[in-house]
Amino acid sequence: MSDADSNAATPAATTTATTTTTIAQPPAVTKTPVKETKRWADMEDEESKNTLSASSSEVNIDNLKIDEEKKINSFLDEAEDSNIKAVISGETPYTSAKTFEELELRAELIKGLYVEMRFQKPSKIQAISLPMILMPPHKDLIAQAHNGSGKTTCFVLGMLSRVDPQLKAPQAICICPTRELAIQNLEVLLKMGKYSGISSECAIPMDSTNYIPINKRPPVSAQIVIGTPGTIKKWMSAKKLGVSNVKILVFDEADHMLAEDGFKDDSLRIKKDIDRSSPHCQVLLFSATFNETVKNFVSKIVKDYNQLFVKKEDLSLASVKQYKVYCPDEMTKIQIIKERIFDLGENIGQRIIFVRTRNSASMLHKQLVDDGYAVTTIQGANTPEVRDKIIKEFKDGLTQVLITTDLLARGFDQQQVNLVINYDLPIKYDTQEPDYEVYLHRIGRAGRFGRKGAVFNLICGDRDEATMRKIELYFQSEVTVVNNSEEDFEKALKQSGLLE
Ligand SMILES: Nc1ncnc2c1ncn2[C@@H]1O[C@H](COP(=O)(O)OP(=O)(O)OP(=O)(O)O)[C@@H](O)[C@H]1O
Ligand SMILES: [Mg+2]
Repeated sequence: MSDADSNAATPAATTTATTTTTIAQPPAVTKTPVKETKRWADMEDEESKNTLSASSSEVNIDNLKIDEEKKINSFLDEAEDSNIKAVISGETPYTSAKTFEELELRAELIKGLYVEMRFQKPSKIQAISLPMILMPPHKDLIAQAHNGSGKTTCFVLGMLSRVDPQLKAPQAICICPTRELAIQNLEVLLKMGKYSGISSECAIPMDSTNYIPINKRPPVSAQIVIGTPGTIKKWMSAKKLGVSNVKILVFDEADHMLAEDGFKDDSLRIKKDIDRSSPHCQVLLFSATFNETVKNFVSKIVKDYNQLFVKKEDLSLASVKQYKVYCPDEMTKIQIIKERIFDLGENIGQRIIFVRTRNSASMLHKQLVDDGYAVTTIQGANTPEVRDKIIKEFKDGLTQVLITTDLLARGFDQQQVNLVINYDLPIKYDTQEPDYEVYLHRIGRAGRFGRKGAVFNLICGDRDEATMRKIELYFQSEVTVVNNSEEDFEKALKQSGLLE
């Protein structure tokens, strides 16, 4: 997926998203140049056997105790992130926090957490990672935790806490793979930081109607900048985004941001430029997935760092039941979408259908709309204005079924989504091998923060079968066969807790 800045040719313009302003309207861009697939950058990537620093030690997370007795509602209150292991660098003793108060956050941030977010207590990844982020000497952190377990809060609170409210200059930068994720993360920041007085800005390609040439723009004074790599890089090279005061740099979906087929070049360039003018900048890398290649690579670009990780066999969410349906042909897939996902699934909540290509997205959309089904579709070729409108309608609950390419596979957070359909299985573009990480992220759009969910994989032909088998093996997760009948689907939905 390389959709961030897919309209990067659009001149950058600002969204002044301080705590009191909202995101500016996105641009109506007429033409979307196709972004070239990324290649390995100038960094060497030789295999590293020892990815951990010499002084690191593996820690049983249970010793960083969280009081299980105090669980209020174990279903919704605990995200499924109990298998996190920590590797701590050096001697710094960290304890995990049972309450937000224990983290010694500023009162305005605690208020934001309780009043705006309505959180009661930290999830496990929050309890463990926040002390590591906030405690001097502010070591770098590679943090892996399950989809939907609350990683956004970790880095948003990290940025809000570490910024000096008196200094009116960029001090924290968060880089995300898509404009949708940048906007979503900024919205969380605005809500959580509502009482903090800290200013923020979204660095994404902007509306042509609000267009200001980059050289006519004032320099960014917002204290936190969240955006996509192309725009951030552009602002930095135009000397509109000064980074000499930046003390915290976050990569959300870090494995993709630093992957060969992701945004490695841009991410490394940004990191190097920040390192040059701000050598003590803390780097935080968050994702639910870090495959071995990326893990080896990222461990070389961070300094003295702590690490939280989850074994891939423990990554699948137990609360999201996985099913596969064998389809003799493409028409059967469409029939399943119509009769099972729309008709049968009408009252179960919001649904996301993932397709592999923009063409399949358009084809499926047309088939459904022509037959009177209410569906919206999003993909990177849409103008930013259309993309934002479709996301808003879905987040507001105005639409129930959304077709998307992998544009929304990562990070997209909508608690009401409880059903994911893989119309096509995710395949790596270059090798034709299963894209294991994308599979996990896709199904993680359901079952947010411990909620129940189900995924239906539509399997058509030998290649799909082989792909599915490899995915099952890789994650050692059980994917149950469902026959294409109303009774069997109903049974599956009941088993997964979505139907009474
Ligand atoms: N401490 C908490 N208490 C209650 N809800 C929480 C808490 N922390 C996060 N959440 C909610 O959990 C949901 C998932 O959080 P978030 O999007 O940060 O997950 P994530 O770990 O980034 O997942 P992904 O890997 O899929 O991006 C959000 O709707 C968020 O509001
Ligand atoms: Mg996330």
